[in-house]
Amino acid sequence: MVAEQEPTHVPVLPGPVMELTGPQPGDVVLDVTVGLAGHALLMAERIGSDGVLIGLDVDACNLAEAERRLAGVSCRVVLDRRNFVAFEDALDDAGIDGVDVLLADLGVSSVQLDDASRGFSFRRDGPLDMRMDDRSDKKAIDLVNALREDDLSDLIYFNSQERLSRRIAKRICQARRDKRISSTLELVDVVCKALNVSPDSRKSKIHPATRVFQALRIAVNDELDALSALLERAPERLNRGGRIGVIAFHSLEDGLVKRDFRKRKTEGEYEIITKRPVIAEPDERELNPRSRSAKLRVARRVVEV
Ligand SMILES: C[S@@+](CC[C@H](N)C(=O)[O-])C[C@H]1O[C@@H](n2cnc3c(N)ncnc32)[C@H](O)[C@@H]1O
Repeated sequence: MVAEQEPTHVPVLPGPVMELTGPQPGDVVLDVTVGLAGHALLMAERIGSDGVLIGLDVDACNLAEAERRLAGVSCRVVLDRRNFVAFEDALDDAGIDGVDVLLADLGVSSVQLDDASRGFSFRRDGPLDMRMDDRSDKKAIDLVNALREDDLSDLIYFNSQERLSRRIAKRICQARRDKRISSTLELVDVVCKALNVSPDSRKSKIHPATRVFQALRIAVNDELDALSALLERAPERLNRGGRIGVIAFHSLEDGLVKRDFRKRKTEGEYEIITKRPVIAEPDERELNPRSRSAKLRVARRVVEV
């Protein structure tokens, strides 16, 4: 009999996250992307029995796994299936005014990426879905098959800076005239034909469909709008001296975080703790490939005198 494998997701930059967001015994921690509770477990251990951990996630499976993993910790734990756009409602429901640490580890978890049926992976065949939240009705298949060519091209360009977005959108529109594009590998095939490369091409360090998949995923999950809303509202609920840490995985996300922190620093609201984004050391990059594109920025809400 084959033993059932535990879902795995190795948290990125665990050391820097703990050191720079600095949770203390008794703190209130809000992890808005609790995922499989990798960071949350570390935080829970640190805040101890007087602390409170609130974990949000839109993905029911990840949240269930987080619940299982956090079952033995001593702090109060509140898990809530909610988009972090509405993090203030989650705090209100939990009876919490302000938090000492707010952590956002953006994007998808390895478990979501590895599950072909979720449609995030350009390496495994599955339906073109890409929703983190299966209560939403926006799927990648609808964008790929229904958007006008110009809109599709703009979506790809703006969400991934793919230089050849026009050529790719044109090829997608040609292909879907013959047959609806419904699986991840069908889309990979169309993208590779547009770029005139094979899916196994070693010409570039990344897979030829990486940017198109990133662009669609961002659009399906409204990722940039969600992050902007979080950054906009976060200071309202950070206690004085409270820290916000954001781990971004591409330059669009990281740019939003960088500009928000700088603007608030100028306005005297934040002190920036990471002068430059923190990236993974070579040994972590080796052990955990996801960490290679991770950038952590941390800021502290200024303590007024
Ligand atoms: C990179 S994983 C987090 C992993 C987690 N830090 C850990 O160590 O296990 C990101 C998680 O955030 C969730 N997520 C992404 N965007 C979200 C949003 N706007 N609101 C709530 N959850 C979101 C995803 O479903 C995923 O489980």
